[in-house]
Amino acid sequence: MTSRVKSYKVVVGRVGEIPPVCTFVYQDQVRQQSFVTTVSTFSCFTAKAKKTMASWTTWLMTVLVGLATLVLVSWVLDIIKRRRMPPGPFFWPIIGNIFMFGGQFYLTFVELGKKYGDVFSLKLGMRDVVVLNSLDVIREALVKKGADFAGRTQTATGDLISEGGKDIVMGDFNPTWKLQRKLFHGAVRAYATGRTLEDKVQGALNDVIDEFSSLEGKAVDVEAHVFKLVLNVVCSATFGHRYKMEDEDFQFLMRMSQKFFELGAQGMLADIYPSLAFLPTPTKTTFTKMSNEFFKYFKRELDQHIQTFDPDNLRDITDHFIKLQKEAEEEGDADINSLTDTHIRQTIVDIFGAALDTTVQSMRWSIVLLAAHPEVQEKLAAELDSVVERNRQPSLADRSALPYMDSTINEVLRFGIVVPLSVPHATTVDTTLMGYEIPKGTWIMPNLWNAVRDPEIWGDPNVFRPERFLDDDGKVLPKPSALMPFSAGRRACPGEPMARADIFLLLAGLVQKFKFSLPEGEGPPDLAPDPKGAGLFCIACPYKVVMTHRK
Ligand code: HEM
Repeated sequence: MTSRVKSYKVVVGRVGEIPPVCTFVYQDQVRQQSFVTTVSTFSCFTAKAKKTMASWTTWLMTVLVGLATLVLVSWVLDIIKRRRMPPGPFFWPIIGNIFMFGGQFYLTFVELGKKYGDVFSLKLGMRDVVVLNSLDVIREALVKKGADFAGRTQTATGDLISEGGKDIVMGDFNPTWKLQRKLFHGAVRAYATGRTLEDKVQGALNDVIDEFSSLEGKAVDVEAHVFKLVLNVVCSATFGHRYKMEDEDFQFLMRMSQKFFELGAQGMLADIYPSLAFLPTPTKTTFTKMSNEFFKYFKRELDQHIQTFDPDNLRDITDHFIKLQKEAEEEGDADINSLTDTHIRQTIVDIFGAALDTTVQSMRWSIVLLAAHPEVQEKLAAELDSVVERNRQPSLADRSALPYMDSTINEVLRFGIVVPLSVPHATTVDTTLMGYEIPKGTWIMPNLWNAVRDPEIWGDPNVFRPERFLDDDGKVLPKPSALMPFSAGRRACPGEPMARADIFLLLAGLVQKFKFSLPEGEGPPDLAPDPKGAGLFCIACPYKVVMTHRK
């Protein structure tokens, strides 16, 4: 039997109050009572909920108004602070100029520089960023005021891959870092000038020469071959051994490096909004898992090195580093005890991480630039033939007799500047630049791209012309200060001697054996940087070349 409510009357009180009168008139009187009870219980509940909701609403409103006020106040304070800092475009609260950091933003910076000058300010989220957009400003900051601008940005991604800034790349400017960098620099220099590097690079090169020989005459995308070649060169420098393509460890390192490259370029939201660092985002979870696997691998390699260390047989940079570390201990260096096992492991990760992609991409630029400029390639081959007999590979001892090769490498590093914005720096103290105030902790982005492509310095910066580094007699001119693919100052790349030695041996070895040409019927390659590299990397667009043996 259904009983229907014929009518009801509710006198509603104010929000949160129980209605004082709640009368229901039913067809069935017996049911009326229980229904009234149910409804009144419900209304009591609703009223309580309303009351709770009201207090939550009030609380939420208070929080929101508080937050909005905070954002507004900090925005106004930022605008006031900006008046003493380098000029820059309007920025929104919370997001700042975030959209200017999309795509190849070193190119956006060139355009912004035309309006705001050689040094300007931006907001990346709520972080202050100052862009150094000309050679003079970069040198003033990184070289003349080196220590003030030698800090590093502390970000969630950086912390994760460097175990809390314990490597050289992400480490902050402090006594432990200075010692770590000094030892690293010494180790790289010793390795790069010794016979070991030459033997290892030439061994890896022979493998790729065999591969290229089997591909003779075909149009080939050489990226995978170059990656494998450089990975082996870098593995030899770090771990002392070369791998075969099918080795499990080699596959692991290849997978990891490629994934790190992708994730590293993406970064994490918490890099810009540190208060979101607690969020377990998918990128963070993947990054953490991969880093742990990666570090385990490096720990194993480092432990083996320590156990088998022989000062009379230094196999790689890791050995050179261990030797210098032991010497610093014996000499009683004041900061040696602050260098933990994690710092040492992270130094080894740096050899690998900082050397791999930079050298791979420099070699990719070299090959496409030579294929697009056969006249340069012919001069290189002729110079090599005049100095190095065909029955032996070029060695580091030949370098000084090969000025055209030297200037071609400089031109490749200039034209295809792989790290166009350097690695962002941070100010270590409140400082000044070109009369503007720069507070401590400001992120600094030196636009190296602009220095190597400035028409006022180079005349024809978009032309690939190795001759610009030679005098009329074909001798190498002193290196111009605007050539800064390795940056400058306290943080300048400590791997430069190794990078230059590797690129020299690889390029000279390849040009001695092969001629690289563009596939017939295809127009000139696109020599603009590939947008895939985003703001952090300037990489060559995908291309194919044909390799033929030199007779
Ligand atoms: C063509 C190859 C390379 C290029 C273009 C390159 C470029 C750079 C640049 C632009 C920086 C940032 C400097 C700054 O913050 O101002 C850097 C940092 C660094 N590079 Fe390289 N690099 C190359 C190869 C290497 C190699 C082979 C190694 C190791 C053996 C290496 C190790 C490092 C390290 C450890 C840092 C961090 C330095 C610091 O924070 O003080 N790099 N590199």
